[in-house]
Amino acid sequence: MKLLEIQTSVRQDRSVTRTLASKFIYQWQAYHPKAQHYLRDLGAQPPALITNDWVAANLTPASDQTDETRALLATSDTLIAELFASDRLVLGVPMYNFGIPAHLKAYFDQIIRVGHTVDYNRDTQTFEGRLTDKKAIIISSRAGKYTPETPESAMDFCVPYLQFILSFLGIQDVEYVEVPYQGMGDDQQQKATEASIARLMELAKTW
Ligand SMILES: Cc1cc2nc3c(=O)[nH]c(=O)nc-3n(C[C@H](O)[C@H](O)[C@H](O)COP(=O)(O)O)c2cc1C
Repeated sequence: MKLLEIQTSVRQDRSVTRTLASKFIYQWQAYHPKAQHYLRDLGAQPPALITNDWVAANLTPASDQTDETRALLATSDTLIAELFASDRLVLGVPMYNFGIPAHLKAYFDQIIRVGHTVDYNRDTQTFEGRLTDKKAIIISSRAGKYTPETPESAMDFCVPYLQFILSFLGIQDVEYVEVPYQGMGDDQQQKATEASIARLMELAKTW
């Protein structure tokens, strides 16, 4: 079993998403002692933004690839191989300006490729994700609270987008743990954090 932790906060030591993901993974590993854990730290090392030449290389058929086009796609190929090699994904995703961190968007632009991670079905005119055998947990901290099915959730362009993208890639088994009220340093923050940790500890038993 291989667990890939994808971290997207630009913060390191004081990051809530990193701290809670670490607690979850530590507990989960107690139930899966043989599992391997890998970290893809997008917050520390954001993937390059895609370019005109990258798109052209991506559209080049395999038989016409050159050393130059292969080099342009090398990061993408590495990130995709890493994803396929993983069974479980833990995504630490803070809300940044109501959406996902730009680092994670750059990552999605690198890894979402027709013929590699998704297929286009011409008959049904739909996309079919290839990552169907994975499970994911999203841990999303934020200063506000945007729990699904509350009026505030209309401002959350982070988690609904993320859930859609994972589904587009074929990952349907997704748990979401919101960590609200972060940054206030008050009782409300502490209670919310404790509740999120308790939920993660429960999930670790069965995930
Ligand atoms: C650039 C930036 C933008 C943010 N935008 C929002 C926002 O739109 N809504 C919100 O509730 N919190 C926002 N926050 C607060 C973070 O989501 C919160 O501090 C979170 O805990 C950060 O994750 P981390 O602790 O893992 O670094 C923002 C923080 C930063 C640094």
